[in-house]
Amino acid sequence: MKLANFPLLLLAITHVHFMMGLEQSESNGNRFHSLSVLYKNQTVIAQGIGLKQYGNASNVVTADTLFQIDSYSKTFIGMGIAKLVDEGKMVWSMNSVFGDYGGDSALILGVVPTEREIVKSLAYLNKTRALRSGYAYTNAYYEILGEVIEYKSIMTWSAYLDSNFFKPLWIHHTYSCALDVLNTEDLSFDHNICNGKVAGPYHLKTSPEIFIWKNNSYIAAGSIISSASDLSKFSRFLLNKGEGIFNSTKTISSMITGQTISPFFGNMQNVMGLSYSLNGNAVAAGYGLDIIGDVMYGYHYFDKGGDTSAFKARNGFIPNEELAVVLLSNAQAKEGVMEDLFLQDRI
Ligand SMILES: *[C@@H]1O[C@H](CO)[C@@H](O)[C@H](O)[C@H]1NC(C)=O
Ligand SMILES: *[C@@H]1O[C@H](CO)[C@@H](O)[C@H](O)[C@H]1NC(C)=O
Ligand SMILES: *[C@@H]1O[C@H](CO)[C@@H](O)[C@H](O)[C@H]1NC(C)=O
Ligand SMILES: *[C@@H]1O[C@H](CO)[C@@H](O)[C@H](O)[C@H]1NC(C)=O
Ligand SMILES: *[C@@H]1O[C@H](CO)[C@@H](O)[C@H](O)[C@H]1NC(C)=O
Repeated sequence: MKLANFPLLLLAITHVHFMMGLEQSESNGNRFHSLSVLYKNQTVIAQGIGLKQYGNASNVVTADTLFQIDSYSKTFIGMGIAKLVDEGKMVWSMNSVFGDYGGDSALILGVVPTEREIVKSLAYLNKTRALRSGYAYTNAYYEILGEVIEYKSIMTWSAYLDSNFFKPLWIHHTYSCALDVLNTEDLSFDHNICNGKVAGPYHLKTSPEIFIWKNNSYIAAGSIISSASDLSKFSRFLLNKGEGIFNSTKTISSMITGQTISPFFGNMQNVMGLSYSLNGNAVAAGYGLDIIGDVMYGYHYFDKGGDTSAFKARNGFIPNEELAVVLLSNAQAKEGVMEDLFLQDRI
């Protein structure tokens, strides 16, 4: 494939490499990535950049290194529900009853022992708003959806994703949580960064400092682990609208269609590297996706980013150009320089 024939792709790749070059030349350049780019149904990049473990020059990130994909896990859970919809076992529509981050403290504080208990305890939460009153971001919703998959399929959500997606898509290095990873060597360490100083390396199995949940075990809202190679295959599957596994392309089409208007946060689009035209453009959220809209310099776009305490995942899809870029990072900036916090968004 001649890259020069694909200006958009060239622009995306040049931009990513430029940003990384810049970053590595800066004093804060202790960030390590894994990058996958899919274009016109082909993986054009699946590679690791930098180190898995800060301070250990021989421990490098490869295309198969495993990163926590954080809230991008929600797209997988959304896909699990989509499969049940596709099979005619459920219907779906956008719903909301909690306010922003409602119910999330049960999860973050780990006050109950299991995901099932989290969901049960949501019954006692004071509902702050009317049913279906619009967009609100809450991790707790994905805990509910994890339990819905379990109820409908009579399998844990992790076993369900494994048998319906990980195995058939040949994404053999994707796991529902760090505990499931047998070859611990493949896991990236993770780090926090503040004003050029690095905390870590932390380990996903043994460093409680960066656990997102008890024992860092299954959490539908964010515990999935994957690699650049695998996510490139998943990008292809998503852009091909479930070809090979889904009955019809309709289900994934509705997943990547805006379902509810998402209030676009002030001037955040600039820091995040998006372009938003006030002229009639709406920014919406899809099923298992954050932003859907014509916000990528004239192109229709969707994404689902994710953050845990020490990993950061960002992606972007341009369906009309069959372009998908997924960037995983094993360092999360905390406080410190504002530019550091949004670096991956701008890449
Ligand atoms: C994309 O690639 C997949 C896997 O190689 C293949 O099954 C599928 O037919 C391709 N789709 C198109 C539109 O080329
Ligand atoms: C550095 O990485 C190598 C290879 O990945 C590993 O064998 C070694 O134990 C690591 N060193 C330390 C100090 O963790
Ligand atoms: C395909 O969809 C039909 C109708 O919704 C359903 O009965 C059937 O089970 C589905 N097949 C698969 C493999 O999902
Ligand atoms: C819910 O709100 C009611 C009325 O404001 C209050 O009495 C009750 O204590 C609240 N419950 C919880 C669990 O916060
Ligand atoms: C954590 O793991 C240990 C050992 O596997 C287990 O005994 C314990 O119940 C787990 N704790 C939680 C909160 O899941």
